[in-house]
Amino acid sequence: MPPVGQTPSEIAAAFREAMRHVAATVYAVTTRHEGHDWGILATAVSSLSFDPPSLLVCINRDASLHEPLEKAERFCVNVLGLGNRDVAEHFMQPRPDRFAVGEWEDHHGVPVLATAQSSLICTVADRHTFGTHSIFIGTLVEANHRQDATPLTYYDRHYIDISEAPERARRPKD
Ligand SMILES: Cc1cc2nc3c(=O)[nH]c(=O)nc-3n(C[C@H](O)[C@H](O)[C@H](O)COP(=O)(O)O)c2cc1C
Repeated sequence: MPPVGQTPSEIAAAFREAMRHVAATVYAVTTRHEGHDWGILATAVSSLSFDPPSLLVCINRDASLHEPLEKAERFCVNVLGLGNRDVAEHFMQPRPDRFAVGEWEDHHGVPVLATAQSSLICTVADRHTFGTHSIFIGTLVEANHRQDATPLTYYDRHYIDISEAPERARRPKD
């Protein structure tokens, strides 16, 4: 464990390193505003409660999705599976062609990835701002899950099959 009394930059570096080694599910968060589709890749997503069914997503205020999401009524959290890696990689490409890869459908007026592990369609219920991000809280209007999907996981700056995580932890850093 590090010594007590870390400087702010040591804390930031250690925090970054710690979070880098937290295996995270990868999501494509999408919305539609004034007929235009928006989406970014995210890992800062969490279920919030089952009563009411709700979740939260943390979106950087500089991200292209942020402004449309502030104005939109609904959004979708597409939980990506291993088979959606092409969508994840494409979502990191520059706009405006983010929906050119993947089979996208309209549900409740938002883009939903037909082949995702799960799709969680929400109405925006609340929003809080903290630091560089906004936390959007959504209440579920539709939820779908594919039983046969394997999760796409982000770990140590790579997409992995989650069963590879212990193996990666033992490897020298690249
Ligand atoms: C694995 C991964 C996870 C990410 N998680 C988030 C996140 O939770 N929230 C967020 O605002 N941006 C996240 N980003 C960054 C966004 O996907 C996006 O690259 C950034 O917001 C710029 O998007 P823009 O070009 O549409 O503005 C993540 C990126 C990667 C590669």
